[in-house]
Amino acid sequence: MSAPLTFDGRVVLVTGAGGGLGREYALAFGQRGAAVIVNDLGGDIKGGGRSSAAADKVVEEIRAKGGKAVASYDSVEDGEKLIQTALDTFGRIDIVVNNAGILRDRSFARTSDVDWDLIHRVHLRGSFLVSRAAWNHMKNQKFGRIIMTSSAAGIYGNFGQANYSAAKLGLLGLSNTLAIEGQKYNIHCNTIAPTAGSRLTETVMPPDLLQSLRAEYVAPLVLWLCHEACPENGGLFEVGAGWIGKLRWERSLGRIVRQKNQSMTPEAVRDAWSEICDFTDASKPSSIQESLQTLVEVLSRVEDERGIRANPTAGTNPSSAVGQTLPEMVFSYTHMNCILYALGVGMSTREPEHLRFLYEGHQDFSVLPTFGVIPAQSAMMGLSSVPGLNIDFTQLLHGEQYLEMSGALPTSGTLRSRAVVADVLDKGSGMVIVLDVHTYSERELVCYNQFSLFIVGAGGFGGKRTSQKAVATAPRPDRAPDAVIVEQTSRDQAALYRLSGDWNPLHIDPSFAAMGGFESPILHGLCSFGFAARHVLKQYAANDVSRFKAIKVRFVKPVYPGQSLQTEMWKEGNRIHIQCKVKESGDVVLSGAYIDLQTDVCVSAGSPQVCTHTHTHTSETRLRAQRDDAVRSQSLSLQSDLVFSEIARRIRDGGQELVKKVNAVFGWEISKDGRTVREWTIDLKTDGGSLHRGVSKADVIFSVSDEDFMEVVKGKLNPQQAFFSGKLKVKGNIMLSQKLEAVLKDYAKL
Ligand code: NAI
Repeated sequence: MSAPLTFDGRVVLVTGAGGGLGREYALAFGQRGAAVIVNDLGGDIKGGGRSSAAADKVVEEIRAKGGKAVASYDSVEDGEKLIQTALDTFGRIDIVVNNAGILRDRSFARTSDVDWDLIHRVHLRGSFLVSRAAWNHMKNQKFGRIIMTSSAAGIYGNFGQANYSAAKLGLLGLSNTLAIEGQKYNIHCNTIAPTAGSRLTETVMPPDLLQSLRAEYVAPLVLWLCHEACPENGGLFEVGAGWIGKLRWERSLGRIVRQKNQSMTPEAVRDAWSEICDFTDASKPSSIQESLQTLVEVLSRVEDERGIRANPTAGTNPSSAVGQTLPEMVFSYTHMNCILYALGVGMSTREPEHLRFLYEGHQDFSVLPTFGVIPAQSAMMGLSSVPGLNIDFTQLLHGEQYLEMSGALPTSGTLRSRAVVADVLDKGSGMVIVLDVHTYSERELVCYNQFSLFIVGAGGFGGKRTSQKAVATAPRPDRAPDAVIVEQTSRDQAALYRLSGDWNPLHIDPSFAAMGGFESPILHGLCSFGFAARHVLKQYAANDVSRFKAIKVRFVKPVYPGQSLQTEMWKEGNRIHIQCKVKESGDVVLSGAYIDLQTDVCVSAGSPQVCTHTHTHTSETRLRAQRDDAVRSQSLSLQSDLVFSEIARRIRDGGQELVKKVNAVFGWEISKDGRTVREWTIDLKTDGGSLHRGVSKADVIFSVSDEDFMEVVKGKLNPQQAFFSGKLKVKGNIMLSQKLEAVLKDYAKL
């Protein structure tokens, strides 16, 4: 059996402890080692009169059993005095049980001002005054436990108790907010709705029941909630007769009753009433953020003229979300967004090399490759509309990020991103959503993002633990770093970065950050990610964005704006392993991270070749050389081009059929003189099929020279032979090669 719960060294104030429930709490705390302030005004149940006898008697009982206790005869309306008694006698205050109460029951019409006010003064205002007096002491010592005493009459209503019900449910509202404000200081506030025989209930309960519903069946819950080992905060519990149950809010899926550019009418409300009140697939929102989230989602749904149901947290089987696609996201931008992003990730005119990212008139004006996360990031929020994922957005942590470039990002234009839930994993303590987002400029894939999102507390649904689809992190080499760059972020780094589209108040609003348990607003993980990528580009690619291929990071700890980021780098071929720390604290903030660079291509004496020597020329020359090279490759005419244009025609004419038969995506890398000069994707999986430039999301990728490709197409070279002789290289699902025939047959006559 585990150790008993004790309260040695703790100082507890129980209000209204002269009788009933309060007395029971005081005795139990005293017995378990706490020093107890037994507070009671000693009046009648309607709030009249006063006497010290009730409190004194309980103090004596505690002392008689060897406990420590002192009496307090003040009314809870003098909250400061009660806390002062605790400080004067025992030097501190750890726990407050707001329990004092009276009744002035009347049917509503007969409730007088006095009936109303007295009840509110004792229950609601009294609990407020006592708790406020204790608050700063608890805050300073970073420990506090507060109990509010509500009532079933407040939760459900009760005839003749309008005043009491209102005050009692007011206490729940008070507790909900104290739970949020206190969390950071280890001050927990919970609410109980007890039922027990006492002088308050003797007029409404038969004597037998009064006897059976003993106060000692309530006290154990109060003691547990007040113990330092109890993590509960912001809970509401009904308790009585030896039973305890927890309550929470439930919200129906709801219905949007408004349409874009049309006024909202009561008739629309009437007509949707049964759906508004239908609790099938109801959610259990637990925070105001979740509540607001719904409204934001509704606004965008109305704007996009999408569905009518409004509950983002509906549904219960996260695994069923795998494969679900999100509505297409459109992102239009100009050079301003690119520059703002560059500033957001710390670029500065102090460094002349940065000018090409900050000045649209620069001859090599470029976009940082990590800007590729920007058009894709809203997919995270879009998850709220995916059925099956019961996401509480306040519990969402951005766990990992992968970004792979397929082409250079344009410096302005419109990008379209398509997101799909690639996998959902059950990690026990939470759920991981692997979200794949492909971003296109026209039909060209420009980048692919994979977001790994951790939802704390959403695990345990029986899903799988790992995924083939998740891009893995890579451990750094076990040696001192090959290079280190340290750079201080600015005090306004997060304020600047958020302008690129991540508006989460956690990064700007101190009170919001406090709710999340942070000292102050934190930097965006993707901002540190941008810094790290820049450092690698500077160290190993002379700021040449065309060398950037992919980046993977795991977000470990937060960074506060103003802290210095220290990027440690290890070069292993084209892969640069990275680890990012906060220099001031030594905390690792990005781990398992790496950046893959493109092989450095140089141009010498007209023919391109892989560069093995160290750089002697400036990055501008190389950039230009590479561009020229790219242009040359594009204008190079290949025999295979003809075949691909015929493939495109066939897909246009009978794509549906092919998609049905083949159901796979084939990537092609066509080389000339040992260099890849063309990339194609034959998509025979999506919609009616398509052919486009670049290799994206292929199930299998074939690398072959233009000449050998033609040999295969003409039937002169058997694909198997080509494979075994090394002329045709295959990556990915090799079994799909068998379907190639359906794609390539009958081209011999071309
Ligand atoms: P009780 O009447 O035995 O205890 C209440 C105590 O509060 C009394 O000793 C009274 O002298 C003291 N008190 C009243 N006004 C005060 C003031 N201004 N300052 C300091 N002390 C004051 O009643 P019981 O049943 O033990 O109630 C305890 C709490 O539980 C109350 O807040 C009550 O509303 C609540 N409650 C009780 C239920 C029950 O079934 N007994 C049901 C729902 C709620």
